[in-house]
Amino acid sequence: MTDTASPAYELTHHSYDVVVVGAGGSGLRATLGMAEQGLKTACISKVFPTRSHTVAAQGGIAASLGNMGPDSWQWHMYDTVKGSDWLGDTDAMEYLAREAPKAVYELEHYGVPFSRTEDGKIYQRPFGGHTTEYGEGPPVQRTCAAADRTGHAILHTLYGQSLKNDAEFFIEYFATDLLMNEAGECVGVVAWKLDDGTMHVFHAKMTVLATGGYGRAYFSATSAHTCTGDGGGMVARAGLPLQDMEFVQFHPTGIYGSGCLITEGARGEGGYLTNSEGERFMERYAPTYKDLASRDVVSRCMTMEIREGRGVGPDGDHIHLHLNHLPPETLAERLPGISESARIFAGVDLTKEPIPVLPTVHYNMGGIPTNYWGEVLNPTKKDPDAIVPGLMAVGEAGCASVHGANRLGSNSLIDLVVFGRAAAIKAAEVVDANAAVPTAPQAAIDKALDRFDAIRYADGGTPTAELRLEMQKTMQQDAAVFRTDKTLAEGLEKMKEVAGKLDDIKVTDRSLIWNSDLMETLELTNLMPNALATIAGAEARKESRGAHAHEDYPDRDDEKWRVHTIAHVDGAKVDLEYRPVHLDPLVKHEDGGIDLDKIKPKARVY
Ligand code: FUM
Repeated sequence: MTDTASPAYELTHHSYDVVVVGAGGSGLRATLGMAEQGLKTACISKVFPTRSHTVAAQGGIAASLGNMGPDSWQWHMYDTVKGSDWLGDTDAMEYLAREAPKAVYELEHYGVPFSRTEDGKIYQRPFGGHTTEYGEGPPVQRTCAAADRTGHAILHTLYGQSLKNDAEFFIEYFATDLLMNEAGECVGVVAWKLDDGTMHVFHAKMTVLATGGYGRAYFSATSAHTCTGDGGGMVARAGLPLQDMEFVQFHPTGIYGSGCLITEGARGEGGYLTNSEGERFMERYAPTYKDLASRDVVSRCMTMEIREGRGVGPDGDHIHLHLNHLPPETLAERLPGISESARIFAGVDLTKEPIPVLPTVHYNMGGIPTNYWGEVLNPTKKDPDAIVPGLMAVGEAGCASVHGANRLGSNSLIDLVVFGRAAAIKAAEVVDANAAVPTAPQAAIDKALDRFDAIRYADGGTPTAELRLEMQKTMQQDAAVFRTDKTLAEGLEKMKEVAGKLDDIKVTDRSLIWNSDLMETLELTNLMPNALATIAGAEARKESRGAHAHEDYPDRDDEKWRVHTIAHVDGAKVDLEYRPVHLDPLVKHEDGGIDLDKIKPKARVY
């Protein structure tokens, strides 16, 4: 149906039970799950689904299948709790670890071409921070892999399955804003169709944000240029909060210069790091798990080596990753993708030479607060778990909170499918397929179109690329691996100034078809609240925990700071509040749940 209610734009209206925004791993798993259960489901994506950033996930997906040796969901949960530096929500972490094997076998049955062991089981490799015996035993092989192209394999399979189940795709549509009604419920989104310039209103009983992270708020990231925090931006504009944004993961092995990812699977298969003295320095910092310590730990150790003058290269500003001691057959079979990346992006033949690497922004632990069913929360003092009806968030866009202050490698892909699936299970319960789809209020539609139109015709003095670069450099410099009161305070002031310049933005191209100038400006308006919440949350948190390494407060302070940060961003203004961490498990120990004594806070050493 089309109408011309808005003076400037002709609108096409669509009605669905569920609209999923984003077609990466979590978006597709949610789409597939919703469609399988008979809900009329649309998936909107700004890129072709199999080009979503999940396609770049390399090393694998964590699940305690026990194919390579003993393992249990309780050990996986313990590692996740410890990895999160005791900030993750206990119920969500339990749900993840318990459901992981089921979710992986489902993927196998959907057709994901996992690598295999000699006896035909799913191949699993070691990854950082994954251990046995509640951290007392040797590293475990828990990360299920399809060579080093696991995300690629999962994404293609889920897209095929979604089509088979009659989910409808709106490809190269850019969702601009949420549509909220007066009762505070989400009733859909507005989207811009990039290839013909038309505007669309999606009315929905349930909207699921699966828009990924905001790595591109930083200058150097392993994330695709499409990772612009679109869900977080839409949520902030709707007056809803973001959670735990100060926790930004640096992956130890981004290729020096390009930032391109070299999977942790490389160290899982036996790779190791050295400094300018040829020393395997991780043995000094993490005597037990060495190069397979948790990511935040390895990134900090690399940074310290460089700072103390033991970096490699002419400027002593990076580290070497060695794989040249491994049999070429192992490299060809298990790590073919990174062999190619090392050649293209570092000019290195990894069978012969080490790869130059540097900690690089990789993942956002924070995001849109949700419960473990993916339902978006709008915490109040009275009810810290208050739900926003009609709205869900999954994957990197959401914060369940399962990764707390630091995510373990390969817990991201499993988060995507476990919580994408959970959202579908919940939606089948709360969405009545027989009820009429609510109509979004005209005022909400007009507000979204007015914003779009204002940006389209923005005629200030600051080009988008210039302002984006200013934001990226500020974040890179002042919200880095190590932080201090001084860098954070200066960074926050600078970021407020940068965010203020959005009022002076200049868009040169006024057209509507394939207008990358307009698209990048809309994306910048999404990146900005994510970046602001990150640096404001970091400035306020006077402790060190997980990826937040504060040099003026080097210790974790559980008494004061074992709380989630809740950030409301309005323009250049950020208001912070805090909500409690969930400490209760889903299942009591006596009924088959984890022994809570095993996951009590303690010093986090590897
Ligand atoms: O190193 C990697 O393959 C990345 C995996 C992850 O972030 O989970």
